[in-house]
Amino acid sequence: MYGLVHTSVRDMVLKNHGPATWEQIRSTAGVGDEDFLAMKSYSDSIILNLVSATSETLKITPEECLNAFGQFWVLDTAAKHYKEMIDGFGSNMWALLENLDHMHDRMSSTFHGYDPPSFFLDNKGNGTYLLHYRSSRQGLTPFVIGLLNGLAIHFKTNIDIKTDQETISSNGQHTVFRITERNN
Ligand code: HEM
Repeated sequence: MYGLVHTSVRDMVLKNHGPATWEQIRSTAGVGDEDFLAMKSYSDSIILNLVSATSETLKITPEECLNAFGQFWVLDTAAKHYKEMIDGFGSNMWALLENLDHMHDRMSSTFHGYDPPSFFLDNKGNGTYLLHYRSSRQGLTPFVIGLLNGLAIHFKTNIDIKTDQETISSNGQHTVFRITERNN
């Protein structure tokens, strides 16, 4: 995963818990300053170590940690560094979700050798959508749920999310989320 993802975990811990807690997590995870170059691609084991050290230190589950991190990524990291991109690729939540693959593709001109996920949005009508998420990685479902909750807050849209179906294989995972828009 790219260093900018590690940086985002660091920013979240620093903002919510301060430097002493971050230092403890950093040393438990065994990562150093050289692991935070935004544009460098690192082994996924670094982000997994960061998530497990964060959940151990803050006494929350890895799923809760990934979920919080997903929300933070959209509402803080992307809002600060990629606002034009988010706004340029969608004027509302559904338009952005339809455009996510184009948005990740766009990054490939800047990021070499990266392995982004793929999303497909199926509009079922009456405010119900099925969102297909495909990744070469495994276990990031709670991260996606956090990202979606962050997007809903960003676009001031009320949603309910359920995981309808999940297939995990050695090639990664395919998850179908059922998202329902609420009027209140
Ligand atoms: C402008 C905003 C965004 C940028 C710049 C961005 C860029 C990236 C980058 C660089 C990675 C790391 C890929 C790698 O290291 O191989 C990544 C991963 C990921 N992105 Fe985005 N992204 C953005 C928004 C979103 C949104 C809104 C979603 C979903 C709702 C999303 C879903 C994901 C997921 C789930 C991953 C983890 C990798 C995986 O599942 O295999 N991203 N993104």
